[in-house]
Amino acid sequence: MEARTPLNVLFASASGNAESIAKRIYEICQSKKYTAEFMDLNNFKDKELPKRKAGSALNMIIVCSTTGNGDVPENGDKFFRFIKRASQPKDLFDGVRYGVLGLGDTNYDKFCNASKLIDRRLSELGGQRFCTHGAADDATGLEEVVEPWIDQLKSHLDELYPTTAAPVTRKHSSHQDDVANFAPAGCYVKVTLTDGESHEGHKLPKTNNQGPFDIKNPFNAKVITARYLTQSGSEKQVLHMELDISGSGIDYSPGDAIGIIPQNDEDSVKTLLQTLKVYEQKDQLIKCECIDDQKEELFPRHLQQDEPITLFDLFLNVLDIEGTLSPNTLRMLAECCTEKNDRHDLTVLSLPHVNAGAYRVKISQQHASLCDILKLYPSCQPSLQQVLQWLQPIKPRYYSISCSPLRHPNSIHIAFTIVEWETPPPQRSKKYGVCTRWLNRKAKKLMMSEDQFDVNIRIFLKSTPEFRLPQSTNTPIIMVGPGTGVAPFRGFLQHRESVMYASVDSDNLGNTSTLRLESNDQCNWLFYGCRRRDVDFLYRQDLRHFEAPNSPVCLNLLVATSREGNNGLWYGGSYVQDYMKEHANTILDVMNRKAGYLYVCGDAYGMAKDVHRVLMGIIQEDSGCDKESAQAVIDRWEAEGRYQKDVWS
Ligand code: 2AM
Repeated sequence: MEARTPLNVLFASASGNAESIAKRIYEICQSKKYTAEFMDLNNFKDKELPKRKAGSALNMIIVCSTTGNGDVPENGDKFFRFIKRASQPKDLFDGVRYGVLGLGDTNYDKFCNASKLIDRRLSELGGQRFCTHGAADDATGLEEVVEPWIDQLKSHLDELYPTTAAPVTRKHSSHQDDVANFAPAGCYVKVTLTDGESHEGHKLPKTNNQGPFDIKNPFNAKVITARYLTQSGSEKQVLHMELDISGSGIDYSPGDAIGIIPQNDEDSVKTLLQTLKVYEQKDQLIKCECIDDQKEELFPRHLQQDEPITLFDLFLNVLDIEGTLSPNTLRMLAECCTEKNDRHDLTVLSLPHVNAGAYRVKISQQHASLCDILKLYPSCQPSLQQVLQWLQPIKPRYYSISCSPLRHPNSIHIAFTIVEWETPPPQRSKKYGVCTRWLNRKAKKLMMSEDQFDVNIRIFLKSTPEFRLPQSTNTPIIMVGPGTGVAPFRGFLQHRESVMYASVDSDNLGNTSTLRLESNDQCNWLFYGCRRRDVDFLYRQDLRHFEAPNSPVCLNLLVATSREGNNGLWYGGSYVQDYMKEHANTILDVMNRKAGYLYVCGDAYGMAKDVHRVLMGIIQEDSGCDKESAQAVIDRWEAEGRYQKDVWS
């Protein structure tokens, strides 16, 4: 009986980690000849769950990451909302046995929250755990928990399916069976060479520029202008970009973000194609087809519509060639080595649970990509077909919008740090953020007016309803946003100012100073932080404007500088939370007595955690309560939508 119990390997993934771990588990199930299905939680809810008879046996393995503020990722949220409903019968999951592996990051609040909620709710609805909940931490290395969890899972599965030899079914796609050479099993993109046709040079994939625009059908936005917000002498460079959205119908709100689909570095694509010995065919026109339902969302719609692109374009615009390799891919790369030593080394790296440190030091910390590994192990010579099997679709990167639609209805502004870093020893190789490096190059071209026409970027709106201004401009807000965390707050302030000007106009008063004093004085607080005011005070002029008496928003701007003085040498400067401590009474007054809003935006790694700690301290000191009670106050603010965070690492 057991051998026939259906097995579902399910995931909810934001950045693809949970999905690739689930896929690995699914492949283990296949290798053991279990009958298994593989899909995201939403698909499971829509397609599989309705087929299940009440009380029938079902085994589920769920790998779920956590996003935002402890939330279930988008491809699992429907499932979660469904099981969460209070009206669900308490025996909904009777007969279901399950194991949940959570992925999270202890640098964020609510570590592994999404998977914990799912794990608990399945149990409340009658499900039985066959495996304890696993909580893998990206801050210390996911593999430290993932690998032992999978080992434990394997022995549970051996018990659940003792001698099964049931046939394997695949769930990837209906096209799976007619896939030729260019789409081996596990592949997400099927590539067909068009007969002898080629197209010299490469081009950005065209978008049809017919809305509505979304991740699959991004809008081709022209870059109107770009300028650096940092001066020379700043260790980091921050770029401000304005994108033309006229005619797109994109209707954004302050607090929203945009997704940008980046392009890989052309030199890296060239090197990779040369290494794969297919560079000669770079201009060959090919047709691509997405053959994995789970990846469909990330596959550009126009490619699905039979528009051919060159092989070079495929690697430039569609595939993620810079991602850190998974243990799975390393294992397959080991098989492609002709040298024994290379094969041995790659095999060792592909078994993080056997050799815990090696994967972390040589792969995760080095962000080792396919190109890096092929360079390090020259005898490793995979074919194009194999590489297509491993590479994932390139993912969009998200940036907070730094302007207001009332002020800029036809454009979207963003501000971002150009990401580059050196990996730790032994490699110490220089790494770049794929998207910001590419945008920076575009910006430089534009600044030098070299090529006014090559400045289109593919964007789509990511609405962020959980990061919103209160309705009334009279409701006080406190914004905490050091560094590029200030971006959405520039949008907030522009918006409030525009709303206030509009209300003056409609009342025909024309007297902004009266308006300010009566309704908005002490309404807007911004705790901003930078290293040195002279080199990295982002949006300095804009913020100073909001502070000035002629602006109705009358901003209270506090600037913490962490490395000012003594010729730029750090002598113990201040951080935003130091100012928050100093203004504890204001914060309490705004939050407790004026029903105001508190926003935190920026680095989750240190800042958001420290700000949270200081906030706890402020509440405890004020009311003499313990940690739990202080946390309850913050939770209440959060539940009321008055404490909103947009943080990233
Ligand atoms: P630092 O880089 O000098 O340490 C914007 O990045 C500003 O945020 C910088 O002044 C940076 O200081 C500061 N910052 C760094 N870590 C922080 C933390 N944990 N809390 C608050 N601000 C921080």
